[in-house]
Amino acid sequence: MHFDRPIDRKGTSSLKWDWFKEDVLPLWVADMDFAAPEAVTTALTRRAGHPVYGYTLPSDALYEAVQGHIKRQFGWTVEREWVLFIPGVVTGFNVAARLVGETEAIAVPTPAYPPFLSAAKNARRQMVKVHLPVEDGRLVINREVLEAQVTPETKLLMLCTPYNPGGTLLTQEELTGLVDFCEARDILICSDEIHADLVLDEKGKHIPTASLSEKAAARTITLMAPSKTFNIPGLGCSMAIISDEKLRTRFKAAMEGIVPHVNLMGYEGATAAYIHGGPWLKEVLAYLRANRDYAFERLAAMKGLTPLLPEATYLIWMDARDLGLDNPATFFEEHGVGLSDGAYFDAPGWLRLNFACTRALLKEALDRMEKALAGAE
Ligand SMILES: Cc1ncc(COP(=O)(O)O)c(C=O)c1O
Repeated sequence: MHFDRPIDRKGTSSLKWDWFKEDVLPLWVADMDFAAPEAVTTALTRRAGHPVYGYTLPSDALYEAVQGHIKRQFGWTVEREWVLFIPGVVTGFNVAARLVGETEAIAVPTPAYPPFLSAAKNARRQMVKVHLPVEDGRLVINREVLEAQVTPETKLLMLCTPYNPGGTLLTQEELTGLVDFCEARDILICSDEIHADLVLDEKGKHIPTASLSEKAAARTITLMAPSKTFNIPGLGCSMAIISDEKLRTRFKAAMEGIVPHVNLMGYEGATAAYIHGGPWLKEVLAYLRANRDYAFERLAAMKGLTPLLPEATYLIWMDARDLGLDNPATFFEEHGVGLSDGAYFDAPGWLRLNFACTRALLKEALDRMEKALAGAE
């Protein structure tokens, strides 16, 4: 399997690989250690061969590739004018936060991918945290959870589906309940679906929030990207998809003057990935599924760790509070494994492990964790 072949990322200024000390295995920030689809490299090389790197528009081919991908993957028909290209999904939800009125609030489910926790503050709006319970080993976001915690001032819900961290794949029933709730309270939904293509549960499927119904579409800003799917996050090309014209106009106005164009390599990479990346995606999902099962089994066997089995994403979220350590992330880092610290997700004592690496590296990291825990007993 070619994903077994290690690629040395040192010397590429990789955030993932340069963050920790040299001898720490980095299983944290959400990118994969795998080469992107070959068609992406070919497209970038070809474009680099033309020496004028001027302002660039998204091409017809890119719009068609995006529409085709979304239709194939999720059965959702997206019109060309609904699609706005933006340099990042984080940019997208920070723009969405600016649509909220001065006296209104933004609901942010927790634990949260850290940039969600600063979006309200960045927009100088109030944040209402919605604590998500774990039920049957699954982080749950549904109508009941929102009803119990969302305040009357709330006018925007920051949804993340599939959910990071935890990897929950929302069911049709859960999504319908969420949308009904938001409809009843006139709450906009910013639906971050960056992990939509990374469904690991073979029986599960991702449902774009806006594809549920007309009323869902009318209040939803969908954020998608090829970045996680095809491992090209450094290229910075994402989309906000908004079918409601008034909402789209408001979103565009909030972007005005502060959101830069997507760079030309981002457009090139996205086009090639969406057109040619299908077979690569299938293969990488098979590799990720096997890594997930392997890592989950080993983590579940480690005393003091309670991992959740992700239905989607390449990230395992685990409760490490039973270890009784001040900071489990620091503990494992000192023993050679770099994980994401749950404290940054508003969940101290939890950890997130990225298993999108070679099986050999994953095995070595899990061996180190096991050894560290045996030594701490
Ligand atoms: C849920 C979620 N949203 C957004 C991002 C980052 O998006 P971007 O790099 O396009 O800003 C990530 C990356 O890990 C993520 O997990």
